[in-house]
Amino acid sequence: MITIKNESQIEKMRKAGALLHDVLEKLRGEIEPGVTTLHLDHVAERLIREGGGIPSSKGYEGFPYSICASVDDQVVHGFPNKEKLRKGQLLSVDCTCLLDGWQSDSAFSVVVGGGNDKNQQLVDVTERCFWLGAKQAVAGNHLGDIGFAVQSCAESHGYGVIRDLCGHGIGVDMHEDPNVPNYGRPHRGVTLQPGMTITIEPMISMGTWKVWQEDNGWTIVTRDGSPCSHYEHTLLITDGEPELLSWPGMKVSEAFREGME
Ligand code: MF3
Ligand code: CO
Ligand code: CO
Repeated sequence: MITIKNESQIEKMRKAGALLHDVLEKLRGEIEPGVTTLHLDHVAERLIREGGGIPSSKGYEGFPYSICASVDDQVVHGFPNKEKLRKGQLLSVDCTCLLDGWQSDSAFSVVVGGGNDKNQQLVDVTERCFWLGAKQAVAGNHLGDIGFAVQSCAESHGYGVIRDLCGHGIGVDMHEDPNVPNYGRPHRGVTLQPGMTITIEPMISMGTWKVWQEDNGWTIVTRDGSPCSHYEHTLLITDGEPELLSWPGMKVSEAFREGME
């Protein structure tokens, strides 16, 4: 069942999103060669708790950490560990935070220490896929419009769109209806309405879209070992542009002004 959020619920989701955004920006600043993903996990948990929130990934269906840290061919749900990050690796950080009973969910990818043009292009295109999808996330449009926009962008670069995982509704629960696929056909699927809160989260592979699950029961990797990038925000559907709940003040039109198109 898709729930429509009222103004006071939305206000709480804004606060959760603001905290999460702050935490992720600080994590970004920590990433450099030599740092471990377990360190990032500890920083995330501390910052979320200091902000009065709960790292809601930790314990979610048994997931043991506050962030998902997915490196290179890991798509999502990577376990933070004690290995030192190396220059040129592709790292995705995905985090969910619960504040005052409401969830926010956001992820970004970076090339550790820079210096890897192929990985950087994948990261840039994945963000571009996100913004093109977000541009379609307007009341009256359909979920298929979002998926089509994401898929068209990724495939025009020869990249693969991961199909086994999707964006999702979000609110009191981390995962609510509807599923928000990163592929689709225009005018198909659920019609978007003001007050719906969803995530858009392209997971884009340099090669195949086919994936395996690792033996830990969580981590998803590309079957051909090619690197994968992930980018995610929590959005509120409105009559106009969506509001980026996990990036206060940011506008979709602003992203395009900054050279995304
Ligand atoms: N943040 C993920 C998402 O985008 C879900 C994390 S699963 C968890 O949907 F187990 F890590 F919580
Ligand atoms: Co997420
Ligand atoms: Co999500």
